[in-house]
Amino acid sequence: MRLARSLTALSLLFFHGVLAANFTLVKEYSGGTFFDDWIFDEYSYDNTTGGSVNYVTKANSSSLAYVNDATNRVIIKVDNTSFVPYNFKRNSVRIATKDFFSIGTVWLIDAVHIPFGCSVWPSIWTKGNAWPDNGEIDIIEGVNRNPLNQMALHTNHGCFATTKTNALNQPTITDCNSTDNSGCTVPESTPNSFGQLFANNGGGVWATQFDVSGIFIWFWGRSHVPPSVTTATDSLDISSWGPPSAAYVSSSCNIPDFFGAQQIVIDITLCGIWAGNPALYAAQCGGNATDPSTCVSHVVWYNGTSDYANAYFELNSIRAFSVNSTPVVDSNGSSASAGAPSTSPTSSGPGSGGSGSGTIDTSEGVALSPRGLYAATIALCFIAAILM
Ligand SMILES: *[C@@H]1O[C@H](CO)[C@@H](O)[C@H](O)[C@H]1NC(C)=O
Ligand SMILES: *[C@@H]1O[C@H](CO)[C@@H](O)[C@H](O)[C@H]1NC(C)=O
Ligand SMILES: *[C@@H]1O[C@H](CO)[C@@H](O)[C@H](O)[C@H]1NC(C)=O
Ligand SMILES: *[C@@H]1O[C@H](CO)[C@@H](O)[C@H](O)[C@H]1NC(C)=O
Ligand SMILES: *[C@@H]1O[C@H](CO)[C@@H](O)[C@H](O)[C@H]1NC(C)=O
Ligand SMILES: *[C@@H]1O[C@H](CO)[C@@H](O)[C@H](O)[C@H]1NC(C)=O
Ligand SMILES: *[C@@H]1O[C@H](CO)[C@@H](O)[C@H](O)[C@H]1NC(C)=O
Repeated sequence: MRLARSLTALSLLFFHGVLAANFTLVKEYSGGTFFDDWIFDEYSYDNTTGGSVNYVTKANSSSLAYVNDATNRVIIKVDNTSFVPYNFKRNSVRIATKDFFSIGTVWLIDAVHIPFGCSVWPSIWTKGNAWPDNGEIDIIEGVNRNPLNQMALHTNHGCFATTKTNALNQPTITDCNSTDNSGCTVPESTPNSFGQLFANNGGGVWATQFDVSGIFIWFWGRSHVPPSVTTATDSLDISSWGPPSAAYVSSSCNIPDFFGAQQIVIDITLCGIWAGNPALYAAQCGGNATDPSTCVSHVVWYNGTSDYANAYFELNSIRAFSVNSTPVVDSNGSSASAGAPSTSPTSSGPGSGGSGSGTIDTSEGVALSPRGLYAATIALCFIAAILM
C-alpha cells in the first residue's frame, strides 16, 4: 500500500495538470486559402527517408495538392494515375509551413482520411529550423497497413520520454536522440487512429500542446472529439481534455533546451527505410522478406496504380492556438510580426511551468530536417548501390 501510495504521489508530480488555460487562435490553414502559406519546394528527391518519390513544386502541384470545392476539404496525395517506369520515382507532396510556432502553441489537426496502403508512409509532424538541434515532433505517422498511429520526438542527446506520466500510452523507446533513428516512440492504442478504420470512422482530431512543461498529444476519433474542440473558434480551452495519448514531460526532457520554434510539415513518401523495410513490408504486404527491393519492385513501379487510391490526406483544417502574443515567428525564433517578441507568458499553460516565447531558441541553422532517419538512409543507399 505504501509503495502504491508513493507511486501515486510520484505520478501526481508528473501529472499533466488541468488548470484552465485560454489559447487564442493565431493561424488557420483551411479551405481555399489552405496552401497559401506553405513551402512546396524544400526538397525534390526525398533524401530524408530514402523514399521512392519526387516532391512536386507548387507550380506542378495542382493535381496532387488542392481544395475540393464541394467539401471545402484539402486533398494532399500521391500521383495514382501515371505509369512510373522502373528506376523512376512517383510524384508526391511534401509541404512545410512558412510560419514557425513558439513554445506555448496548441495545434489542432482535423482529418477525415490519412494515406494508407502498401508502401505508403505519410506523416504530419513539426520541426525546428536546424535538425536535430531544434527538435522534431511526429504527431501522425505510420506505414503500409498499420492499424494504429505512432507518435515520436527526435532530438539531440539528453531528451527522454518517461513512463511516469498519466498518458494513455507509454513509450516503447525512451531515448529521443536522433541517432537512434526511431526517436522516442509512443504507439497509439486508441482504435481507428490510422488506415482504413480511421477513414471508416469519419477520421478524427489530433491536438498537440507544445509547452515548457512538456509536449502532449491527444487523439480523438470523430465521435469522441470533445465539444471544446468542435466549438473552438477564436479561443481554445484544453482544461477538460483529460490524459493525453502521449506525454513527453519536462522532467525528463527540458523542452526549451531541445526544441526551437516549430514549422508544420505534411508529407507522403513511398517505401524508404521504414515502409520499405523488406521484413516489415513482407509481413504486411507479402513478397520476399530478405530482398531490399521488395517494396519498390512490387509497388512503386507496379502498373496497377489503383494501389494508391487511398494514398491521400483529406483535411478539414489545421489550426494553431497560443498563449503568446507573438506566437508566429520566423525560423530564427524572432517575432514575424511588426511587434516585439513577448518575453513573458501572457497566461499559464496547463503544465507546471506556464509558457513563454522568451524560451525560443535563437540558434542559427539551415532548414534541414530529415526525419531522424537519414544516417540509416545513406547507409541503406550504399548497401543498395553495392547490391546493384
Ligand atoms: C478566452 O479569450 C477569449 C478571447 O480573448 C475571451 O473572449 C474569453 O472570455 C476568454 N475565456 C476565458 C475563460 O478566459
Ligand atoms: C536533401 O536535399 C536538400 C535539397 O533538396 C539538401 O538541402 C539537403 O542537404 C539534403 N539532405 C541530405 C541529408 O542529404
Ligand atoms: C546520441 O547522439 C550522438 C550524436 O549526436 C551519438 O554520438 C550518441 O551515440 C547517441 N546516443 C545514443 C544513446 O543513441
Ligand atoms: C529473396 O531475396 C534474396 C535476396 O535478394 C534472394 O537471395 C532469395 O533467393 C529470394 N528468395 C526467393 C524465394 O525469391
Ligand atoms: C506496364 O505498362 C507499360 C506501359 O503501358 C507496358 O509497356 C508494360 O508492358 C506493362 N508491364 C506489365 C508487367 O504489365
Ligand atoms: C486515384 O485516387 C483517387 C482518390 O484520391 C481515387 O478516387 C481514384 O479512383 C484513384 N484512381 C485510380 C486509377 O486508382
Ligand atoms: C536567420 O538567421 C540567419 C543567420 O543570421 C539569416 O541569414 C537568416 O536570414 C535569418 N532568417 C530569417 C527568417 O530572418
